[in-house]
Amino acid sequence: GGDGDGGEKPPPQRRVLVFPLPFQGHIDPMMHLAGVLHARGGLAITVLHTRFNALDPALHPEFRFVPVPDGVPADVAAAGKIIDVILAMNAAMEASPAAVRGALASALTEDEDGGAACLVIDANLLAVQKVAAEIGLPTVVLRTGSAACLRCFLAYPMLHEKGYLPSQESQLYMPVPELPPLRVRDLFQTKISGHEMLCEVIARINETVTNSSGVVINTFEALEPTELEKLRGELHLPFFLTAGPLHKLSSKNSGSSLLHQDKGCIDWLDTQPPGSVLYVSFGSLAAMDSGEFLEVAWGLANSGHPFLWVVRPKLVQDCDSVALPEGFEDAIKGRGMVIQWAPQQEVLAHRAVGGFWTHNGWNSTLESIAEGVPMICRPNAVDQMMNTRYVENVWGVGFELHGELERGKIQNAVTRLMDEREGAEMRERAEVLRRKVAECLESSGSSQVAVDKFVSYILSL
Ligand code: UDX
Repeated sequence: GGDGDGGEKPPPQRRVLVFPLPFQGHIDPMMHLAGVLHARGGLAITVLHTRFNALDPALHPEFRFVPVPDGVPADVAAAGKIIDVILAMNAAMEASPAAVRGALASALTEDEDGGAACLVIDANLLAVQKVAAEIGLPTVVLRTGSAACLRCFLAYPMLHEKGYLPSQESQLYMPVPELPPLRVRDLFQTKISGHEMLCEVIARINETVTNSSGVVINTFEALEPTELEKLRGELHLPFFLTAGPLHKLSSKNSGSSLLHQDKGCIDWLDTQPPGSVLYVSFGSLAAMDSGEFLEVAWGLANSGHPFLWVVRPKLVQDCDSVALPEGFEDAIKGRGMVIQWAPQQEVLAHRAVGGFWTHNGWNSTLESIAEGVPMICRPNAVDQMMNTRYVENVWGVGFELHGELERGKIQNAVTRLMDEREGAEMRERAEVLRRKVAECLESSGSSQVAVDKFVSYILSL
């Protein structure tokens, strides 16, 4: 031990390797976790990353980066469909494990420090876990979705045996008593890639989770107490920790946005009255058709409320750059702002923002909850329907906008959230949840304690 008496070196720093799935909703929580392990736990970090959606090492000078060949064919990469990319990446890595082995070896050997203790991987990277197991490197899984979502994954075989899945149109509103309060339509599903492909992805997630040394999940104890208790009974792993919301635990912006965040909107928000602005964003992947886009535009314009709307490239199917309808910009002058990509966490924390129209990706949902912002929910696929179900029926901090998108309905939904008593009650409940988030982040709060446990586990390896 170096106690500062001259020539002795300080104890070697242990290193943790992290490997996120290269999609925005998966990269951010992993980079936040890495930041927390580095800042709170004093651990050194190496980030493994693919060429597909590669990260910029210059934005993270405190971390080391090692590229990993991903083998995703150019056409699959260009289409960017998440299920297809996950399967292609795993297939390529399983076909040539030497490439992954080489990357892991280079992450492990260039070390002058205390050596790598473990590899934290996204649950979708089974192929990487297999290689790590071969070389004796323990893996910990970061789950970027909710506890309810992980329970749904683990129940997937049962949901097929009992006939809930694949879902039938006539059974969509049937309850699934094994996973309350979910109904068939709330189960993890996709409209884009086929159901069989989805089943394969989920079977792989389950295998990765059950073969790991432990799971860290981006939720917090007070948000999903029942689901977490059940999961702890269902999963028999050395540890199972809830360290969310990770973006609030880490002190800095993850710096891993794949698109440029337009910070100009913060200056505009500064000029708006408190709680007056509706923030509208559908995450990094969801897309709509051009008719729906028109309805959203005019619904927002006609609502009379100030709004900040994220229109990212490809928000309209097959459209690289989306054009706003004629006359729209004049109609919203001074009251509405449209940008390509927002500093979302900063926007939701801004005092001018009073509501969020979201697709309920898990990150967006947690980010809204963390700032006490109530939601209009427009889920599209995967875990978004179940997130909406919890927002509406368990936490009471938002409501779903059902059916076809139509400007009059949108206008009513905005009024309901921003002006009516019901919206005000949702805002009060959201404020109660926000305080629970603040509690879990205090120095002895549940998420901080989870990080401490994780760090001591790493140091024990
Ligand atoms: C989703 C799912 O949530 C995930 O479960 C699934 O596996 C893959 O896709 P996404 O649809 O992008 O991710 O939504 P979300 O989870 O909400 O993540 C979006 C992230 O992008 C958030 O952290 C949000 O803050 C950020 N964002 C979004 C911005 O930084 N700027 C924006 O303008 C919009």
